[in-house]
Amino acid sequence: MSANMNFAQRIQRVEPSATIAISNIASELEADGVDVVDLSVGEPDFPTPEPIVDAAKDAMDAGHTGYAPSNGIPELRSAIADSLADRGLSYAAENVMVTPGGKQALFEVVQSLVEDGSEVVLLDPAWVSYEAMVKIAGGSLERVDLTPHGFQLEPALSELADTVSDDTDLMIVNSPSNPSGAVFSDTAFEGVRDLAVEHDVTVVADEMYDRITYGVEQTSLGTLEGMGDRTVTVNGFSKAYSMTGWRLGYFAAPAELIDQAGKLQSHSVTCATNFVQHAGVAALTECDSYVAEMREAFAQRRDMLVDLFADHGVDVPVGDGAFYMMVPVDEDDQQWCENALSDAHVATVPGSAFGTPGYARLSYAASTERLQEGIERLADNDYL
Ligand SMILES: Cc1ncc(COP(=O)(O)O)c(C=O)c1O
Repeated sequence: MSANMNFAQRIQRVEPSATIAISNIASELEADGVDVVDLSVGEPDFPTPEPIVDAAKDAMDAGHTGYAPSNGIPELRSAIADSLADRGLSYAAENVMVTPGGKQALFEVVQSLVEDGSEVVLLDPAWVSYEAMVKIAGGSLERVDLTPHGFQLEPALSELADTVSDDTDLMIVNSPSNPSGAVFSDTAFEGVRDLAVEHDVTVVADEMYDRITYGVEQTSLGTLEGMGDRTVTVNGFSKAYSMTGWRLGYFAAPAELIDQAGKLQSHSVTCATNFVQHAGVAALTECDSYVAEMREAFAQRRDMLVDLFADHGVDVPVGDGAFYMMVPVDEDDQQWCENALSDAHVATVPGSAFGTPGYARLSYAASTERLQEGIERLADNDYL
């Protein structure tokens, strides 16, 4: 059946994700009984920690199954404000908006701050959904490529300075980075701050992976002098607490943005799931040891992969955070990823999905055995 409908411009501006071709091939192979090593997903392979699951069950038993206050239950908003305070950020509970996933937080923030003609600066490689969100909101993109600088921001500051101007409305800074794993330095953040202040730009700090760093601490952008009232801090529970399917995230921001975005939240999703929010309190208050364990496992896998790639003569620019790495591949990365999947049965994501062709993003949120198997298959099929 074909549709007799006129589609809105805002949705026609967005292309389907470059990962669709890959997941279609993977599904076809799996339907044929092929064992695919899937290194394409940004999802921890650990179960959600027990205290979180127990807290959700208890909350359900206690009857927390109805609508919650639209901006979030007070207990969770306070627990989030406390955890942000531990990172040096001073937000009151009222400055926190609890959302069904960090993606919804970003969507609401972009919808509230970007309109037709707005200019948004991204740092490439950039997480896939930023571009789509900005386009849906009617904004245009300026991009600074960090690839020639080993994915680091500090050496690219002069290029950023050439890009940010009085026409810039918003910058989105994601560190630790999906897809490169890079953790941006304090000097890089000071550079962002100077430009933001000079040109009166709001900055979204996507800190989704702030608890997944190896041997370094991620500074929070909003702690820098001059940034408190122009930073929107976005975070969530999916990655650090292995809660991808629970859909829980948040942003913290000046009260005016909470009010504006609150209209969007109350008129769309209403609220994040009530009992999931109670589980979120347990995540923040009872689960540090679980996070530390997962972090340690990711660190070991990262180091193992770097060694395995080195054994095959591939030098991968490794980052100190998140659980991804960008592996240099053919210039036509889409084709490389499709072929690697068809021939070696290893799924990765083309770098062009993140604005950086010539790379494939590999997620090491998979077991050591599957990672070893994946590299072996790539090597055996001459992809390394
Ligand atoms: C950089 C970044 N931001 C935000 C998100 C959104 O995560 P979620 O909606 O699961 O909280 C993701 C998930 O992949 C991400 O990698």
